[in-house]
Amino acid sequence: MSIACDIPDALTAALRDARHVCVLTGAGVSAESGVPTFREAQEGLWARYRAEDLATPEAFLADPGLIWRWYRWRRDVVAGVEPNPGHYAIAALADLVPRLTLVTQNVDNLHRRAGSRDVIEFHGNLFEDRCFAEGTVHVADEADEIPACPVCGAHLRPGVVWFGEAIPERALDESCAAAADCDLFLSVGTSSLVYPAAGLADLAQRNDAVTVEINPNPTMQAERFDYALAGNSGTVLPELVKLLSP
Ligand code: OAD
Repeated sequence: MSIACDIPDALTAALRDARHVCVLTGAGVSAESGVPTFREAQEGLWARYRAEDLATPEAFLADPGLIWRWYRWRRDVVAGVEPNPGHYAIAALADLVPRLTLVTQNVDNLHRRAGSRDVIEFHGNLFEDRCFAEGTVHVADEADEIPACPVCGAHLRPGVVWFGEAIPERALDESCAAAADCDLFLSVGTSSLVYPAAGLADLAQRNDAVTVEINPNPTMQAERFDYALAGNSGTVLPELVKLLSP
């Protein structure tokens, strides 16, 4: 593993030769848009709130109204910000390589708003609701108080994946297939601590992909990657795009 600020020549070559690039993003990609990450000291959401109080089915059962209002607040925060150069660079990269699969742990919709297509939303989407009883998906309800499912009358819940819940089957299957198939894997703006998302890099590496972490603070997991680029996604990703631009 090599830690660098500049993009090493061998990585440039791997990018230019890549047949299939798989990009996994985390909260850090949206940090430059003003969306709080989860685990960073002080600013991170889990430094201010306890995940088990807000992001589990048990928490929802204990106080559905509180959970609804917390996710409404997060929805309002992300609806009020704009995608940043990192999001736009990933959308641009998709047009510059033969194939790109984007897997995001983020629920903020910013990749789609930046123009990325076919985004695999590993942890769901804040702008969808799901019936707590039957799992049916509904367009996000703007109500301040928790709404009822129009079909069965049970509570609606935010369409995100909570701790202790399974990753949506299709998202998991497509992500694993892409990680196993790609020849370049970029892990951007994630602490690589939450599984199964964090395991996608291992899957890529086992299948001989070149693996790269992009993070201003190389993570405890950085040594699992072939390269660690120590920079903000909003700076490093546009540089990758420049390398490929005609
Ligand atoms: P974390 O908060 O764990 O990690 C965010 C990472 O982004 C940190 O390693 C930061 O150093 C890095 N970072 C900060 N600013 C950055 C920038 N400008 N450019 C690049 N990187 C930057 O967030 P995730 O890894 O996304 O799950 O967290 C994974 C999951 O844990 C989330 O999807 C969420 C959370 O609990 C669920 O809600 C199920």
